[in-house]
This record gives sequence, structure tokens and C-alpha cells, in this order.
Amino acid sequence: MNILMVCLGNICRSPLAEGILRKIIEEKNLDWKVDSAGTGDWHIGHSPDHRSVSIASKNGLDISALKGRQFSHSDFSAFDYILVMDSENYSNVVKLAQTETEKSKVELLLNYVEQGKNESVPDPYWDDTQFSPLYDLLTNACEHFVNFHLKNK
Ligand code: 4NP
Repeated sequence: MNILMVCLGNICRSPLAEGILRKIIEEKNLDWKVDSAGTGDWHIGHSPDHRSVSIASKNGLDISALKGRQFSHSDFSAFDYILVMDSENYSNVVKLAQTETEKSKVELLLNYVEQGKNESVPDPYWDDTQFSPLYDLLTNACEHFVNFHLKNK
């Protein structure tokens, strides 16, 4: 199973989500792959934001080698699940879908925590204090995602 985490810049939320999910996948010996991308193009080739690198590192995760990339239409065939952080990411990705199957791959990550609530992972870019709660929110959501799939296997 291939999972893509998506946010706006691919430097704060989605690389952190990628690192968190990868660690759970490894711990559980699952044969899943995870990657991340941004809907915007400003941070292509950039390392994750230092605040995401730092909160990851405090929790035993090294995301420093990841590099930003932009979501592209080919991701619809490369991934089974496209998990977006917020409603703006959702509309930007869904806009690029050409079939109902492609569209159905796009889901708000937090709907795995509370189904149907359509809640967004807040953009932490402008607020340094948001990175620690972001880590907890993403960890909880990734655990829900994995548990959902293990239960429904
Ligand atoms: P992200 O956060 O979408 O979680 O990576 C942001 C990163 C950069 C910008 C906005 C949000 N930016 O405006 O450059």
C-alpha cells in the first residue's frame, strides 16, 4: 500500500506526517510505503522547516534528509491513499483529479480520527508554538490510520 501525505509547502506538516507514519510502519513490519508532497511550488528541493526537524528529532525521528516536492497528477496512479492536511489542500488536489477513482483517493487525514468531521491540521508556519501540538495531532492521526487498515485487512 502506498500513502502520500500532502500539505501546502511540503516543509512543515506533510514531511512530519511522513516521518511519523514511516516509523509506525517500520515498528509494525508493514509492507507499506509513504511519501509526501506540497500543492505549492515554493519549496521544491528544500529541506523540511527546522521547527519540524526539531520536534521530530525530540521524538526520535530524523526527517532532515527529506526534500520538498510538488504534488503532480502522476501521484494519483503512484499512490493508493492521498492524505491531505486541510480543506484547501483537499480542493487543490481534487481539482487535478480526472476520474472518480482518482478523486476517491483523496481524504482529509483527520477524518481517520473523527470520521466525517472534515477537520484540518492547522498550518503551523507562522506560529512556533504550534509544532509540539502538531506532532501530537499527527501521531494520533497516523495511529488511527494504521489501526483502521489493520482492523479492515
Ligand atoms: P506546510 O506549511 O504546508 O505545512 O509545509 C507551510 C509552509 C510554507 C508556507 C506555508 C505553509 N509558505 O507560505 O511558504
